[in-house]
Amino acid sequence: MGSLQGKVAVITGGASGIGRATAVRFAQEGADVVLGDLADGTETVRLVEKLERRAVFVRTDTTSEADCDALVAAAVAEFGRVDVGVASAGIATAAGMSNVEARAAGGDATHVVNIDTDAFRKVLDVNVLGVMMTDRALARQMLAQGDGGAIINIASSAAKIPLAGASPYCVSKAGVWMLTKVMALELATTGIRVNAVGPGYTATPMIGGIEDNAAAYGAAMSITPMNRLGTPEEQAAACLFLATDESSFMTGQMLHPAGGQFTG
Ligand SMILES: NC(=O)c1ccc[n+]([C@@H]2O[C@H](COP(=O)([O-])OP(=O)(O)OC[C@H]3O[C@@H](n4cnc5c(N)ncnc54)[C@H](O)[C@@H]3O)[C@@H](O)[C@H]2O)c1
Repeated sequence: MGSLQGKVAVITGGASGIGRATAVRFAQEGADVVLGDLADGTETVRLVEKLERRAVFVRTDTTSEADCDALVAAAVAEFGRVDVGVASAGIATAAGMSNVEARAAGGDATHVVNIDTDAFRKVLDVNVLGVMMTDRALARQMLAQGDGGAIINIASSAAKIPLAGASPYCVSKAGVWMLTKVMALELATTGIRVNAVGPGYTATPMIGGIEDNAAAYGAAMSITPMNRLGTPEEQAAACLFLATDESSFMTGQMLHPAGGQFTG
């Protein structure tokens, strides 16, 4: 028996990176999964089905309230309930460039004094409002079920580490971290636990190609004592812990698989 045998998990950002690895890990532990993403989730569905679990992909823009509600409704329609939710959908910058690349490019084009308002707003829209609307839809369903649940928000070590040139991202992830704590308080007596994972630099498309960019990789490793990137699977393992009863007395916490970033 896997530790999520018979459970149903909804995962945003499930088409790629940490969301995909989490879907696969949860399926290995016996869960069926519902994947919401702007991008095509077919490959994740295939990987889950290879493990003989069921997976449904729902094209979802998490900045749309209707889409977030429809994603949870699809899980209920397909599997009858939702036990676990992982909000992994996120962006680094409005332009798609990673923060490390932006910082390593030097100059102050991405500093607050120069940043474009819409670029800032876009990151908050996806990373904060998108997570709030995902969490709200999940929590409403879990409250209706009446037997608890686990919500896991993918924040970032950048929720606590200020990075020059990455103000929208840092602010958004600090927002996710605070949202996690407030929701945990509000739901503490319901059996619904709300926690966060705050990854350090992790090898996913979000920071794609970083190893080929000496300046960007050097900047990332200068604040990563283990001197390597994390893997999506290492983030998925933290999500698994927070999804199961192994963490039954934990709510409002953030785990940092981050290569030692918080040793200082
Ligand atoms: N990779 C890292 O180094 C790192 C570090 C810290 C935190 N994170 C966080 O981890 C989470 C997952 O990122 P990842 O590294 O797997 O990157 P990724 O780019 O591989 O995956 C992000 C996914 O989110 C989806 N997405 C983006 N905007 C969306 C929207 N509006 N609606 C629905 N889906 C949307 C993308 O299509 C993509 O599939 C993000 O929240 C990211 O900020 C990543």
